[in-house]
Amino acid sequence: MDSKSSQILLETAELSKDYLMGSEVVNALREVSVQVKGGEFVAVMGPSGSGKSTFMNLIGCLDRPSSGRYLFEGRDMSQLNIDDLARTRNHRVGFVFQNFSLLSRTSALENVELPLMYGKVPRRDRKAKATAVLEAVGLKDRIRHQSSQLSGGQQQRVAIARAIVNDPALILADEPTGALDTFTGIEIMALFQALNRDGRTIVVVTHESDIAQFADRILRFRDGRLIKDERVEHPEDARKMLSRMPVDRGKRP
Ligand SMILES: Nc1ncnc2c1ncn2[C@@H]1O[C@H](COP(=O)(O)OP(=O)(O)OP(=O)(O)O)[C@@H](O)[C@H]1O
Ligand SMILES: [Mg+2]
Repeated sequence: MDSKSSQILLETAELSKDYLMGSEVVNALREVSVQVKGGEFVAVMGPSGSGKSTFMNLIGCLDRPSSGRYLFEGRDMSQLNIDDLARTRNHRVGFVFQNFSLLSRTSALENVELPLMYGKVPRRDRKAKATAVLEAVGLKDRIRHQSSQLSGGQQQRVAIARAIVNDPALILADEPTGALDTFTGIEIMALFQALNRDGRTIVVVTHESDIAQFADRILRFRDGRLIKDERVEHPEDARKMLSRMPVDRGKRP
């Protein structure tokens, strides 16, 4: 790991988020203090309703905290107005979701080009960049396919290509393997591990401890609190695990 990637990328200090439901206050996140360095691969675990997505929304600059501080790349995000927060998010954070969230009846290429529209990248450069990223995630021969013409695993690869095309500082994935079968889920984790080896910082929410074992650190939430922060001593190598699994599928890209 080079010196740049071992710097602190994000830091929360007593970060809290409350939601008002009628007259009742929901403490979705309670005083979470944590640091993540550049180049880390972090898994976020915890029961349903424990605050995982709330945490991801805050560190991904999708939402603002009720109290506490959030520093991202050394800047205090809690001080930014909505427009600056959105600008930071569009340029510096890539999101991957459980249900892929691709535009239907739209090609893989166009889906991946979309984030580049924010950056005013010229059309021809957009196309070249999106194509290169789709090739990097193993979809060279699916570039013109529409979302509905792709398997779940392929759709998630498009979503990951879209998340990385802007070269973000942080990749956030909320249950990225939740809608996939076991084998395809491990393939997606192999892709995340490859991106992480290239120096990318990744935070993945998962319910499955098998999936969390591919990360090098696990944060556990309960009732909105961060209750455990542990290193994974020997993360599983997804690529190696796949090579040991029988392949009788025919739908691999
Ligand atoms: N927009 C909202 N308005 C009101 N309450 C909310 C809102 N979003 C989340 N909550 C509440 O905040 C708490 C934390 O929700 P969150 O979505 O972060 O949980 P989670 O750990 O991601 O759960 P899951 O595993 O089911 O996705 C829950 O009690 C939830 O009901
Ligand atoms: Mg959630």
